[in-house]
Amino acid sequence: MNVDLFEKIPNNVNLSADKRLQRALEQWLPNYLSWWREMGPEGFQEDSIYLRTAVSVEPDGWAHFNYVKMPEYRWGIFLEPKQEGRTIGFGDHYGQPAWQDVPGEYRTPLRRIIVTQGDTEPASVEQQRRLGHSAPSLYDLRNLFQVNVEEGRHLWAMVYLLHSYFGKDGREEAEAMLERRSGDSDKPRILGAFNEPIVNWLDFFMFTMFTDRDGKFQLYSLAESGFDPLARTCRFMLTEEAHHMFVGETGVDRVVQRAAELMLQSGSDDPEAVRKLGGVPLDMLQRHLNLWFSVSEDLFGSEISSNAADFFASGLKGRYKEAQYEDHIALDKHYDLPVPGEDGRLASTSVPLRNAMNEVLRDQYVADCQRAVDKWNRTIERVLGERGAAHRLRLPHRRFHRNIGAYSMAAGYHFDPDGNPITAAEFAAQRGRWLPGPEDRAYLQEIQKPVLEPGKIAGWVAPPARGINGQPFEFEYVRHGT
Ligand SMILES: [Fe+2]
Ligand SMILES: [Fe+2]
Repeated sequence: MNVDLFEKIPNNVNLSADKRLQRALEQWLPNYLSWWREMGPEGFQEDSIYLRTAVSVEPDGWAHFNYVKMPEYRWGIFLEPKQEGRTIGFGDHYGQPAWQDVPGEYRTPLRRIIVTQGDTEPASVEQQRRLGHSAPSLYDLRNLFQVNVEEGRHLWAMVYLLHSYFGKDGREEAEAMLERRSGDSDKPRILGAFNEPIVNWLDFFMFTMFTDRDGKFQLYSLAESGFDPLARTCRFMLTEEAHHMFVGETGVDRVVQRAAELMLQSGSDDPEAVRKLGGVPLDMLQRHLNLWFSVSEDLFGSEISSNAADFFASGLKGRYKEAQYEDHIALDKHYDLPVPGEDGRLASTSVPLRNAMNEVLRDQYVADCQRAVDKWNRTIERVLGERGAAHRLRLPHRRFHRNIGAYSMAAGYHFDPDGNPITAAEFAAQRGRWLPGPEDRAYLQEIQKPVLEPGKIAGWVAPPARGINGQPFEFEYVRHGT
């Protein structure tokens, strides 16, 4: 597939053949750049950063590493190549040829899916814009900026679809993407979790671990879409998304490792001992894990959802790796869901499978998160030996601290981290033990002083096992102020 890398907008969609589209996107470009200057990373915009840029979509050679100033990043539009004869893999249109154009009857829901996905991309850049000032190392700073520029590219991917396939209202939606602002009271971002600022690095690592991982599962299910251009876009986004989750999963792992090392050094199991040495104690880590896992679970939507059923039926949004299932119609199967009744007690309800598609996707997500938590626990044991067994991290139950769906606190339901029903008063009494509070935030701010010298790292996080693209940790990943 031909890649035009030296065009104003690098692309592999033969943009120069469609002058109208090219002009429209070239008009959007300066607006995008002014959004980036205003809402992208604060400071560091003139620094040279060792960044990866997509130069093709081939699995073995799509990335190119070099020093780039962020505003000069080559964002571009990349879709995976078309598979000739691809058919729709699920729902009522199962087996029919995949759509190369938007089917009129699904125009509105399809636009909504694309806008909702697209909106999260600039939102996360906005949320993270101040983090550079407290980076624990140049390696981490570079990773932050890599995530940020790629989220910018993901916005490009969704805007390309809106411009190409949705005419005037698509162009208006593309403009609106640059007008909403994370946390703004008048024009907030669409999804709740994307309106909270991320001001410390533990939150950033938890966000890229848990919230980007929601993105992974959403993208996988859209990669199954019967609307072929969306499927191809999402498949390429997933290759970039893998790095974001790597940043999160290994980031948390390195904070865990450092906590365990400080426990070893102090010879004490008291969290206070880790704090005295400037680390993040495991109980504080657990509170952040509880928070980010639960808010990210909300992003999957309600357990019982007619929207989810419609998206599946109409072939817009499939399941994670749909090919793993035998039955792609999912019409006469059910999903057993424990639902709280009037008295707050849980009773199993049989939900038609299509209506439970959000929960089916959430199941896969929870399993993936559990795999990471198991890995962190192995790190604790590696450092602390047998003593580590008493200090295990754990995923809270999926019913814990929910704001959307059948277990929502807004509907008056509360659950402990084991998933047992409790009263609102019991929840309130334990809140500070289960979720981060102002003291945690103040402490993290206190220990997170920037370390911007090559080869140096802050005392609250262990260095990575290896650097980026075969470079050592000591490599000058960001040429700051030179
Ligand atoms: Fe993204
Ligand atoms: Fe991401």
